[in-house]
Amino acid sequence: MHHASGETALITQSPFSSVMGDIPRDPQAGEHILGQSEYSGQEKTMRLTFTKSSEDPVTVILSVDASPGCGGIVWPAGQILSNYLVQRDRSFLQDKTVLELGSGTGLVGIVAAMLGARVWVTDQAPLLDIMRQNVLRNNLTSSCTVAELNWGEPIPADMPVPDVVLAADCVYFEPAFPLLVQTLCDIYDKKPEVLFCYKKRRKVPGFPYSQSPGLRIMRCAQADKRFFALLKKKFTWEQVMDDPNREIYNRDSITLVRLHRLK
Ligand SMILES: C[S@@+](CC[C@H](N)C(=O)[O-])C[C@H]1O[C@@H](n2cnc3c(N)ncnc32)[C@H](O)[C@@H]1O
Repeated sequence: MHHASGETALITQSPFSSVMGDIPRDPQAGEHILGQSEYSGQEKTMRLTFTKSSEDPVTVILSVDASPGCGGIVWPAGQILSNYLVQRDRSFLQDKTVLELGSGTGLVGIVAAMLGARVWVTDQAPLLDIMRQNVLRNNLTSSCTVAELNWGEPIPADMPVPDVVLAADCVYFEPAFPLLVQTLCDIYDKKPEVLFCYKKRRKVPGFPYSQSPGLRIMRCAQADKRFFALLKKKFTWEQVMDDPNREIYNRDSITLVRLHRLK
C-alpha cells in the first residue's frame, strides 16, 4: 500500500498489527527498515532477520506475549533501532557495555549482544520473564543480563557503566516522563552514546478504548512534546543522520536521535 503521495512507507507483519494501525504497509520498504519478520501463532514466537549487504544476517527469535503489558510485543521503533545497529560498522558494539531501557521482549539489546556487546536488558518486573526466555532462546546468557530497572529508581549497584544506552518506544505514558528523564541523567555521568528511537504520538480524540493489554499503549498515548519539554532542561539531541532509512521512517513519525547532556 502506498501513501496517497505515492511515497512508500513501513510494513509490519506482526500479528499485533492492530496496535500499529497507523503504520502503512509496503512489503519492500518494510523489510528494508524493520527487518524481515515471521510470526508463528502456534509457538507465539517471532523470527526477525536484519540484513546488511556483505555481512552475515542477524536473526533473533522472540517469544511474544501481550499479557505482561505493551512491552511483551515488538514495536516498530525497536525494529528500526535494531536494524540501525546492524547497519553500523560491526566494530561499533564489539566489546562495548550496553544498557537498554524499557527493553520489553529484549529485542534491541539481544541484537546488540549478537553484534558483540555485553548487554543489560532492563524493564519493569512483569517483563523480566519474557526477556529471560528470549535471552535463553537466543543462547546469549553469557553476554546478556536481564535486570529490573524502574525509571526514576536508583540504578542497580552491580550494573556496569555503559558505553552505549539504547531506548526504543519509551515515550508514551506521561507520568513516566520525569522518571525516564531522571534515569537518563543518572546513567549519563560517564557520557555514553545514547540512541533514542521514538514515535510521535498525539492524543487521538475518541480513540476506541480496549481492554487488550497490547492496546493499553494507545489509550495512554500522550503528546510526546511534553516529554521533550522536560528532556530539554537536561539534554540536547540531534537526529541520527547516518541511517539510510531515516527519511522513510520519519514519514511514519518515527525518529532516531542521539542525546547529549547539557553542561
Ligand atoms: C512500547 S514498549 C517498547 C518495548 C521495546 N523497547 C520495543 O521497542 O519493542 C515500552 C516499554 O517501556 C517499559 N516501561 C514503561 N514504563 C517504565 C518504567 N517506569 N520503568 C521501566 N520501564 C518502563 C514498558 O514496560 C515497555 O516494555
